[in-house]
Amino acid sequence: MHSFVIEGGRRLSGKVRINGSKNAALPILAAALLTDQPIKLRDIPNLADIKNMLKLLSELGCRRADEPADGTFGDGSLTLRSVDESLSHARYDIVRTMRASICTLGPMLARRGFARVSLPGGCAIGERPVDLHLRGLASLGAQITMNGGDIIAKVPSGGLVGNTVFLGGPFGSTVLGTANVMSAATLAKGVTTIECAACEPEIVDLANMLNKMGAKISGQGSPRVVIEGVAELGGVDHRVIPDRIEAGTYMMAAAVTNGEIILENCPVDSLLAALHCLDTIGVHVEACNAVASNNPHKSAHRGCEDALRCCVRVTSDRILRPVEVTTQPHPGFPTDLQAQLMTVLSLADGNSVITEKIFPDRFLHVAELSRMGAKCIRHGNTVVITGVRKLVGAPVMASDLRASAGLVLAGLAAEGHTVVNRVYHLDRGYDRMEDKLRALGASIQRIDEKDVPADLVAAGA
Ligand code: EPZ
Repeated sequence: MHSFVIEGGRRLSGKVRINGSKNAALPILAAALLTDQPIKLRDIPNLADIKNMLKLLSELGCRRADEPADGTFGDGSLTLRSVDESLSHARYDIVRTMRASICTLGPMLARRGFARVSLPGGCAIGERPVDLHLRGLASLGAQITMNGGDIIAKVPSGGLVGNTVFLGGPFGSTVLGTANVMSAATLAKGVTTIECAACEPEIVDLANMLNKMGAKISGQGSPRVVIEGVAELGGVDHRVIPDRIEAGTYMMAAAVTNGEIILENCPVDSLLAALHCLDTIGVHVEACNAVASNNPHKSAHRGCEDALRCCVRVTSDRILRPVEVTTQPHPGFPTDLQAQLMTVLSLADGNSVITEKIFPDRFLHVAELSRMGAKCIRHGNTVVITGVRKLVGAPVMASDLRASAGLVLAGLAAEGHTVVNRVYHLDRGYDRMEDKLRALGASIQRIDEKDVPADLVAAGA
């Protein structure tokens, strides 16, 4: 297992390019199961979760046309084609490493009439049930049973039939549940209306790609998505949207180091709640070349020529101000930036409050940040953060992807050395984070856990 050793206190400056979005790419890759035609995808990030999804799709009969010997996808492009539709079992071995495996369920069911997908368990960020996915697919007529920990879903002889499907749960809609039902409905007979659909940009990207494949989806990005079923879908050439969470993470890295970072390929319009929050704190995000044109894709907010793939400069005031933030479904503040924000607020001048409304237990980073001197008190799904003048390096344990990112940011800001253990969590969602941070001036090394110098393991800084 690898660890990061970070020597904090360096001001970050320079340019970083944001990758294609992991959470858009995962259901988009699964959509290859909806057709036997080639799917060409661009800007696929080189991440552990993507490699797992490709492994799963290969077990489900998809082949890569352009696979290099080392299995990578250098420039982010790859072509997938489903060639064997008899393989429909997503095994526990893969599903347990990556919950997003669940998004193969809807596509397999719709195209192959049968799917067996291991039920994902809980994970470090909470329970994460899939009842809404199953309820949605059952509304289209799927017959669903459980056996040996697997979901077994079959299409009745008449095929899936469009219906009105309500996807609201105790914490709002479901992102991957919307992806599953929307994908399955593209091949159902008649019209499906998803009420309380997830409005996340990743769902819009999936719908846009499915439409290019011949689907008839409208309303994506709103809580009512309407899908008119078609007989079949064809191939496509699609570029995945940039990763709003990676972009937000680098903005916050600039904030905690009082840095100045330029982000290329930044989806500003998908980050409005985060930008608003950062503005209040004293972190400023400006278009590199603001334009005044009539381009309909221009960002209304920041004056960028292309709101989806913008170039922005991030700077921050010397003194960060406290805020109150609640995570919400899009377009609210994203839960996937909550841990990183907590690091920023632990250095703000005053008391801040974060309330987590998507995953109420997503707070494993609180105890680790406290080891670095942060003052955080948790009550249920709320954490009160009293800003401190400095964080102090310590050995800390990454527990999930975004918590790890929060700890890396803390290490960049802290005095002395921080060792972040178990960075495999981070590799699931950030491509070469240490290289990108080093290019911005950070002192950060990836080393084998057993090679971490004893004095750093024992006493931190
Ligand atoms: C997606 O997970 C993302 N994952 C998560 O990103 C993200 O945190 C989450 O959406 C919320 O934005 C991918 O896109 C691969 P949900 P998903 O179903 O779709 C409850 C990251 O760090 N719920 O929208 O699995 C659920 O427990 C990750 O990149 C039900 O009650 O999340 C949660 O409270 C982690 N029943 C809420 O809904 C269900 O059937 C939202 O979950 C499904 C969900």
